[in-house]
Amino acid sequence: MADYRIKEHPVLDINSGNDIVFFWEGHQMKGREGEMVSAALFANGVRTFSYHSKDGAPLGLFCANGQCGQCTVLINGRPLKACMTPLRQNMRIEPLRGLPALPEEAAPGEFHEIEEVKTEVLIIGGGPAGLTAALELGKAGVKVLLIDDKEKLGGKLVLQTHKFFGSVEDSFAGTRGFEIGEILEKEVRKLSEVDIWLNTAAIAVYSDKKVGVLKDNNRYVLVQPKMILNATGAREKSLPFPGNTLPGVYGAGAFQTLVNRDLVKASDKLFIVGGGNVGLIAGYHALQAGIDVVGLIEAQKEVGGYKVHKDKLMRMGVPVYTRHTVVSANGKERVESVTIAEVDERFRVLPGSEKTFACDTLLIAVGLDPVNEFHFQACDFGMESFLAGDAEEIAEASAAMFSGKIKGLELAGKLKEKKKEIPEEWTRKMGILKSRPGKDIKSEKDRPNEGVYPIFNCGQEIPCNPCTSVCPRQAIYIDPDNMMDVPVFIEEKGCIGCMQCVAICPGLAVTLVDFRKESRHPLVTLPYEFGDKKLAVGDNAVVTDKEGHPLGEYEVVSLKKAGKVSATYLVQFQMPAEAAKKAAGLLVQADREITDPLKEYIPEIRDDEIVCRCERVTAGEIRELIRKGIRDINQLKAVSRAGMGACGGKTCQSIILRLMREEGVDMKDVTKDTLRPLFFDTPLGYFAGIKEDGTNESL
Ligand code: SF4
Ligand code: SF4
Ligand code: FES
Repeated sequence: MADYRIKEHPVLDINSGNDIVFFWEGHQMKGREGEMVSAALFANGVRTFSYHSKDGAPLGLFCANGQCGQCTVLINGRPLKACMTPLRQNMRIEPLRGLPALPEEAAPGEFHEIEEVKTEVLIIGGGPAGLTAALELGKAGVKVLLIDDKEKLGGKLVLQTHKFFGSVEDSFAGTRGFEIGEILEKEVRKLSEVDIWLNTAAIAVYSDKKVGVLKDNNRYVLVQPKMILNATGAREKSLPFPGNTLPGVYGAGAFQTLVNRDLVKASDKLFIVGGGNVGLIAGYHALQAGIDVVGLIEAQKEVGGYKVHKDKLMRMGVPVYTRHTVVSANGKERVESVTIAEVDERFRVLPGSEKTFACDTLLIAVGLDPVNEFHFQACDFGMESFLAGDAEEIAEASAAMFSGKIKGLELAGKLKEKKKEIPEEWTRKMGILKSRPGKDIKSEKDRPNEGVYPIFNCGQEIPCNPCTSVCPRQAIYIDPDNMMDVPVFIEEKGCIGCMQCVAICPGLAVTLVDFRKESRHPLVTLPYEFGDKKLAVGDNAVVTDKEGHPLGEYEVVSLKKAGKVSATYLVQFQMPAEAAKKAAGLLVQADREITDPLKEYIPEIRDDEIVCRCERVTAGEIRELIRKGIRDINQLKAVSRAGMGACGGKTCQSIILRLMREEGVDMKDVTKDTLRPLFFDTPLGYFAGIKEDGTNESL
């Protein structure tokens, strides 16, 4: 039986959980009680979950977050999203072929009164913004109900195994994302004013100013808040290209969920589309989970994410192709390869530049859209509703924490007589943390071959400063009023070689060179985050320069855990002086077979690109309707069915608008789609207060 569980991880603890059995197409398989059905299927090597009712196309996981409906399977006879349904003993799971049959009419169920609760602020979403807002509100004595549709607080922080950028003093820079989530959760749980409901989704908002939530995933409750704070985060954008709905094409969030939350090796060979921080970080997470990363493409001439992230990946052996686009994902039942091509300044494919790479997974990280429908509907009904974090503006999680703090204090000010001013400093810092990376402005100056000093492979303006805060000599300087500045070593203060700056840097961008014992062969210290199982003292490793060019093979003379920084090791080599000053990282993926292209090329079929993956409507069909003059998305939806699927149009709307723009339509002439009243598919019985008996038969 295939086993895709991750058995060891350099950062995450492996908890084995309770083994249970379930059945997939009648075959007995092993899973963990309570894990999501999607994780159990992936762990057993199942990638194709269902077949589309329109054309029988194979479907698999896409968002892993309950947003898209691509992973719907039949569970004990009912169509349910595999990514949102916990696995139970003896579950019988089948692929969905065609439309699901309605269940046999069951005897009328037993109903209970619908519970109604009042609160001052309802926070929807327990991620970085929701948690920091709850902290401020709770501290100000405001009664808060914080709901989250997952079983754990932290939102996307739970999936982040890397150390965060930003500032040490107020956004936990240098600490890993999931650890930040745990710290914030602990703080929030201390506050008696904050009530937390997990496994609880907000499913509807009504004109009588009540919000319907599904508590514990099975009990419909009406909440009457004075105010709503939507900290609902963001969803991934989809991208139209031939093969984009094949199982194996999925979003970065889905990938991180499978690998970092479910501890499933979701892929053997991964290719990444999108050079923002999300794509770059996902590449690093993949390498840490033992997954080969074949390459990463970015359509612009430079990646949009931090250069330190890009350099880190390149040093480890992952090729980054800028000015490239995806031409097609290829395969019959699932992804077997990807074809990419170079593009010109207007993003048109340069014929003849196509290359095809073997891979089983194509990760799409081309940006995020705010999840804000609920907020706009609440505003339409005259409720006091607010946005925080990514739901308001897409930015780094460190900025979302500030956004939550600010919104929390702002709402407390509206509800309590004693108003606390929002510190100007918070707004200023949030602005900095939201900044896009600036220019690559600095390269290190050459220093003499004596003493000991750090070399910063960090010349781009990014909001980050942990290296400055750990130095016992205060020898690293970044202008305190401009966190975007690059770090500088102040020679006069002197370095004592403590290596703390090497250990804490989230970009793995600091090298320490020590000439004190051997001036011709100084000791070089580099950070290493792959545990102590793959490298040992006496092994040879390829050391690279900042951008991944090999400097040669050198023997590891020491490998030690970095004191206070979790899961970080410090590895030391003795290298010739000139190479030592260029050393920046270790090659972890040396096999060229992983990253070399295949010989054959698979051509593109542009008009076959699926835009609406739920209803399988192609770009060609939509273009034709736009050319016929349709400007109303509702009309386009009625004619083509694009937007009428299980995801409620959340996945395809932005692509339809993009097609409109491409066709030269003035956006002022476009009528946007009408929002659906329910934001989450919910069995009808819940609205009548049905008593859930565990079998779901009477729903
Ligand atoms: S090694 Fe220690 S003393 Fe030297 S610059 Fe880094 S943090 Fe400061
Ligand atoms: S060198 Fe300093 S500023 Fe640059 S990424 Fe590392 S910790 Fe941040
Ligand atoms: S992609 Fe879900 S409705 Fe179009």
